[in-house]
Amino acid sequence: MKNRDKILDILTSEKGFVSGEDMSRTLGVSRAAISKNIKQLREEGYKIHAVTNKGYQFEAEPEHISERQFKYELGAYGFTYVQIDDTVDSTNLEARRRSYEIQGNGCFLASEQVAGRGRRGREWASPKNQGCYMSLLLHPKIMPANAAMITLIAGVALAETLRELYQVEAWIKWPNDVVVNGKKIAGILTEMNAEVDCVNYLVVGIGLNVGNKAFPEELQNIATYLEYVMDGKSKSFHQFEYAQALISKFIPYVERFNQTHNLEFIKAIYEKMCVNIQREVVVEGKPSFKGVGKGITEQGALTVINEQGECVTVTSGEASVRGIYGYV
Ligand code: BTN
Repeated sequence: MKNRDKILDILTSEKGFVSGEDMSRTLGVSRAAISKNIKQLREEGYKIHAVTNKGYQFEAEPEHISERQFKYELGAYGFTYVQIDDTVDSTNLEARRRSYEIQGNGCFLASEQVAGRGRRGREWASPKNQGCYMSLLLHPKIMPANAAMITLIAGVALAETLRELYQVEAWIKWPNDVVVNGKKIAGILTEMNAEVDCVNYLVVGIGLNVGNKAFPEELQNIATYLEYVMDGKSKSFHQFEYAQALISKFIPYVERFNQTHNLEFIKAIYEKMCVNIQREVVVEGKPSFKGVGKGITEQGALTVINEQGECVTVTSGEASVRGIYGYV
């Protein structure tokens, strides 16, 4: 347990004042360390009253969910491990490295990724404090062939979260990009460790563009970010609030999926949120063809009516889809 958490425990369990000296004796740390931690807690939004010769008194929790509360709340969704870093190479890589020590679900958040990874070996630009970079380590009881469906489920949970928390019109571009105003705002990279007949673990990495320095020039026309699409109308972004809201939607869906092993339970919601349905699309595969998106199968493949009027089923491994004039 960090000193920060121990100090918070002491202060919240005591109605009156606690002196810095008492805390430093109890925890075996210097007075300077106590005041440094108190300063940090205040920066996090905790209201802590200080009076000379009396000490510190806990007044109120932060307006936004605190780190401590966040960790506590995640317990209800099977998370036994939460790691919050300033800088990592990639939260997905960090989750994979730690996977062997963690029995339950794990949540990894970082303010910055220096080697953020996107799908198909692409880079995911992850500048400091410009986005939310999160990976969830899960141990679903599913076959490897079914793992890709979890990514579609994450897309639904993510789009729902953005709609509800920030009142933005978030849509899903099949299979799992989340778009607002026709531009990509978030992406999901699911990685798996499996044997032929069982998944050992999944890492679902979710990147959300929040600030305006989040992407390189070649993405400017197809990417967007939360602060821009909110246009100051909604509340400001707070990492723990967002992550908790997303997890509280996603994990119950995953639990449902663990029972059903198909997307029947979420298909209608997905199709309603999918920007490609009833729209002209180009399926970029071998060969590429044009058509109109029709729906998804219970396995998460996209059904497309081609120009010959035939219904073609496209899986995400085989092909990608774009709009006829651009990204969507
Ligand atoms: C995509 O290409 O659309 C997927 C992007 C996924 C980015 C997230 S950010 C958190 C996690 N860590 C990574 O390195 N990638 C994922």
